[in-house]
Amino acid sequence: MTSEIESSQARTQKLEGLGTRRKRVEDIRFTQGKGNYVDDLKFPGMLFGGFVRSPYGHARVKSINKEAAIKLPGVKAVLTAEDLKPLKLHWMPTLAGDVQAVLADEKVLFQGQEVAFVVAEDRYIAADAVDLIEVDYEELPALVDPTRSMAGDAPVLRDDLKDKTSGAHGPRKHHNHVFTWEVGDAAGTARALAQAAVVAKEQIVYQRVHPCPLETCGCVASMNKVDGHLTLWGTFQAPHAVRTVASLISGIPEHKIRIVSPDIGGGFGNKVGVYPGYICAIVASIVLGVPVKWVEDRMENLQATAFARDYHMTGEIAASPDGRITGLRCHVLADHGAFDACADPTKYPAGFFSICTGSYDIPVAHVTVDGVYTNKAPGGVAYRCSFRVTEASYFIERMIDVLARKLAIDPAEIRRRNLIRKEQFPYRSALGWEYDSGDYVTALDKSLAAVDYASLRDEQRRNREAFARGETRRLMGIGVSFFTEIVGAGPIKNCDILGLGMFDSCEIRVHPTGSAIARLGTVSQGQGHATTFAQILASEIGIPAENITIEEGDTDTAPYGLGTYGSRSTPVAGAAAAMAGRKIRAKAQMIAAYLLEVHDDDLEWDVDRFRVKGVPEMSKTMTELAFAAYNNVPPGMEPGLEAVSYYDPPNMTYPFGAYVCVVDIDVDTGVTEIRRFYALDDCGTRINPMIIEGQVHGGLTEALAIAMAQEMDYDEYGNLKNASLLDFFLPTAVETPSWETDYTTTPSPHHPIGAKGVGESPNVGGVSAFSNAVNDAFAHLGLTHTAMPHDHWRVWKTAQSLGLTTG
Ligand code: CDP
Repeated sequence: MTSEIESSQARTQKLEGLGTRRKRVEDIRFTQGKGNYVDDLKFPGMLFGGFVRSPYGHARVKSINKEAAIKLPGVKAVLTAEDLKPLKLHWMPTLAGDVQAVLADEKVLFQGQEVAFVVAEDRYIAADAVDLIEVDYEELPALVDPTRSMAGDAPVLRDDLKDKTSGAHGPRKHHNHVFTWEVGDAAGTARALAQAAVVAKEQIVYQRVHPCPLETCGCVASMNKVDGHLTLWGTFQAPHAVRTVASLISGIPEHKIRIVSPDIGGGFGNKVGVYPGYICAIVASIVLGVPVKWVEDRMENLQATAFARDYHMTGEIAASPDGRITGLRCHVLADHGAFDACADPTKYPAGFFSICTGSYDIPVAHVTVDGVYTNKAPGGVAYRCSFRVTEASYFIERMIDVLARKLAIDPAEIRRRNLIRKEQFPYRSALGWEYDSGDYVTALDKSLAAVDYASLRDEQRRNREAFARGETRRLMGIGVSFFTEIVGAGPIKNCDILGLGMFDSCEIRVHPTGSAIARLGTVSQGQGHATTFAQILASEIGIPAENITIEEGDTDTAPYGLGTYGSRSTPVAGAAAAMAGRKIRAKAQMIAAYLLEVHDDDLEWDVDRFRVKGVPEMSKTMTELAFAAYNNVPPGMEPGLEAVSYYDPPNMTYPFGAYVCVVDIDVDTGVTEIRRFYALDDCGTRINPMIIEGQVHGGLTEALAIAMAQEMDYDEYGNLKNASLLDFFLPTAVETPSWETDYTTTPSPHHPIGAKGVGESPNVGGVSAFSNAVNDAFAHLGLTHTAMPHDHWRVWKTAQSLGLTTG
């Protein structure tokens, strides 16, 4: 028996299935420079497109003179809105139910907006031609501050909407209003606030930032005029959705459109939406009959493609004197820029912001969100988070600290008093979400023990005394954050994008010799899907992960899926993989029963084979069964071993985590050193711990960037002042501290393998941990809240405003 168990263990190891620190198979090509990105694609006769972009935040386009550009040798075409009008392609639908100008139609509404598209033999000629196009603008007053958007005298930004009293998300109350969205119990919350012993109120701004993937956005469009097929290679996080949208916009039948996402160098939400470059490249290829490539440069990416956040939140939190929260109210002013191009499920124009009661048992809450237009680039995407969850988490985690300060209760302690208890799951929040599983107190306690929180607070007390005596010029801050994410959209009944239900899919073909290929509706952008989906399948179907090829991103071969963003790959496509694997196994079981001449029920699964219960030496391995599937199946059964699963999740998954950050701030320079960062994540069943750690490291690095330095900084004319990576901070190894990672495991009860997503978690939990730490450093001096980003200059200004330093 012992030797049998050992052999099971040995076979399990060989599979490299769930829980294995399997090395990333993708890295073999990436580390050799053999990746295949959009800009690597080359086709005979391919042309290159480039944009003329608006230098103004708001202006009327009086005329466009393209004569000189067209005469430049090598230039093949120059497109403007006038050229697109006959095709009705000068405007396009956004994912949020708005429309966006493909090329400026009479007006420009943000700096960097697409005005004309030049097509030339190479990108250098295209760039020269861009410079030769003369656009006559009449500058208009720019509206940059969202708090001014709905003022009586605010300029009309969207001429096309100015008289419309309703939009895609209900009534509009001003010409620059996009929508009002409301959830929760307004009267009950007002009562809780009126009756509370303590109410803490704060304005919390989550600044506009940019997802900044290493590879910018781009595509190659190729129209085959002979057979009417359009192929579009591009940096798409959701290729099937792009195919459907491309068909609806262009009128080309969907079966004649093939969308391919090759390797993608990071997405972070930036590559979910449809950009004018895609439409222009398609039109140019249709007109000119050759492939047309468009790849934006870094400045274009920063200036014109989807931004994130820009949420201006006013919070009120009610509590008893011992810190028990009794109610929460929040109003958000959401700056959507010039067009509402937020990438949220249709019913959720403010994404999943209503997860803002966080990890706490809050009896009543009320949220209102007003979306407004400004003269800034459109977007509002889920930058490494699930649809506004980072904003929600930052809001509640700052509010809890503000309340803790007001009540003079330790921030970790006030969290412990309010955390949802293990026995309360599944837990229905005051704003309507059903949290699937959690063991929050254990996670918090583990994290506090790991960093020896009590000693850190002692050290901080001594540091403050020494500072008061003038013995040091450094202040120590300790940031605690506890977050709950909500990832894995669907279910279909709640979540769709442009009417497309948010399920996902996996199709598996097992070959006769016992290896397999699986195709999914998701797209990896560096998350290692080819490694980890194979691990899920290895455990499900008993074929070693190395013998399973994973393919994503080609709509001609992959089953329909809604793509990868908002950590939905594991919760939805991962579940589809497990379910498709189970179908394979069910068929294999019938074949095994036939070959072993027993009833199906007399068989049991053993790692990589079926064996007869009580007679373990009578068994058939998956390799044997795969071969039999092609030549010796039970009478009446179809040959072959294939399965497909379209998985509509019954609920989302709710990963969570407890983070602690320790900072040391030099008050005379504002220099803030991250001394320690501890991150405990619970993503349910862990597929590949090494990949999870990588995801957490990456997410924390982006959280560091956002919390400590990033902001898209516009002046009053709508000029983006930091439109290059010289001015917009992207952390390198030099600025990045070393991260300590840890975990607890609370499986999701409804996911086939108990897994929750993880890719977004560190950004959600990280940003508030950093910000709480910086705020905490000054808390004993009466500071309630100082806004992000906490760059050295702003931190120094905070110290100065508190009278700690002069200069
Ligand atoms: O949707 P996206 O791939 O961005 O996010 P995810 O589902 O959180 O997965 C990110 C990576 O972490 C994938 O390679 C997953 O397989 C892996 N992962 C894991 O190993 N275990 C989990 N419980 C969750 C994710």
